[in-house]
Amino acid sequence: MMEERTCDLLVRNARQLITLRSSEPGPRCGRAMEDLGVVEDGAVAVRTGRIVAVGVTDDVLSEVALSPGCIEIDASGKIVLPGFVDAHTHPIFVGSRDDEFELRIKGATYQEIARRGGGIRATVRKVRQASKQELFEAALPRLDRMLEHGTTTIEAKSGYGLSTEDEIKMLEVVRDLQESHPVDLVPTFLGAHEVPDEYRGKKPEYIELILHEMIPAVAERELAEFCDVFCEEEVFDVEESKLILTAAREAGLEVKLHADELSPFGGAELAAELEALSADHLVAVSDQGIMALKSQGVIAVLLPGTTFSLGCRQYAPARRMITTEVPVALATDMNPGSCRTESMAIIITLACVMMRLTPAEAIAAATLNGACAVAREGAIGSLDIGKKGDIVIWDMPRYSYLPYHFGVNFVEMVIKDGKVVVDKRNKN
Ligand code: NIG
Ligand code: FE
Repeated sequence: MMEERTCDLLVRNARQLITLRSSEPGPRCGRAMEDLGVVEDGAVAVRTGRIVAVGVTDDVLSEVALSPGCIEIDASGKIVLPGFVDAHTHPIFVGSRDDEFELRIKGATYQEIARRGGGIRATVRKVRQASKQELFEAALPRLDRMLEHGTTTIEAKSGYGLSTEDEIKMLEVVRDLQESHPVDLVPTFLGAHEVPDEYRGKKPEYIELILHEMIPAVAERELAEFCDVFCEEEVFDVEESKLILTAAREAGLEVKLHADELSPFGGAELAAELEALSADHLVAVSDQGIMALKSQGVIAVLLPGTTFSLGCRQYAPARRMITTEVPVALATDMNPGSCRTESMAIIITLACVMMRLTPAEAIAAATLNGACAVAREGAIGSLDIGKKGDIVIWDMPRYSYLPYHFGVNFVEMVIKDGKVVVDKRNKN
């Protein structure tokens, strides 16, 4: 009994402890997104990687005893948040596409570059040439940067292999990273990211390959939890996306989709019809699409970093989604083409400035709602008893400071599974 009342790590006296604790399960929607469960002078106690107490510091100290060797962290004057959950990333690749960034600045569009054989296909050519070791080593510093910027869990997509062998290679790299890096990775199969060079003009044959070879191979090896499709004009249409996602679901994968990013294409409606866990991007979603998402509780994963980096003027209609009570999450979309950033803080700033989320809404979207978008809300996304000790200390006085002071990293300490993995205090 006494054993249960001890902790091996304690963060105490936080000026604001942002718990995001809920009495109800599931994502925060509508007005509830403003409720961050802030505790002033807060503390959180962890034992063997899990949270055992959370609340006002004096109360936590009366509930738990410090085990011998307990790590005690004074967070006075700081804010403490759950680790960010970045629910949409493409972190496995080699090479850079800053050349395309420059072409876009000079006036070319993302689609024009893709039509010319650049874009996703440019990265595919490089990934096919790369060994697993090379892909692994290229991804490591990205995960390090994510952790340093306060992200403790990411969803990680394949989609730059586009052959059975190379898609498996990418997903095996995700698995290897999961085993060797503190950041948790949730693997997603994205064989329908683009039609590869050798199948141009033969899309139905490529879809056959996805349906009959790739999905079974990925499912059999248990390499992915989700299947995603780039449902967009000139990529995979609604019928094709439906075929692929239905087969994936039958093979035991949950479904997500890149929907209505560049044109209102019916992707949100399809996500609702398939009861997908999330529909992502949604810049061009129609009002009907928003209603469809709402009716099925599909999570809208918004990626304002992509809109920004592509230099587009129009952002996803986040306010309309929030007032309609569609659950909204935020993610980086970190990838070599349309959005090269590991920072969830900059995404939060963009969400506030360009989509008019309040700081509280944006933080809920980047934590608890992100966890829901990767089906991990039982373990992460809030500072609650029983959840993982994924805790980030920020050197700032209030949570509203986070989107306000942008472009600088104020993460002071990151605790993952109850262990200190980033410590700027003891760095000279
Ligand atoms: O989410 N939209 C498709 N996939 C990525 C871009 C990937 C790339 O350009 O390499 C995205 O924006
Ligand atoms: Fe994406």
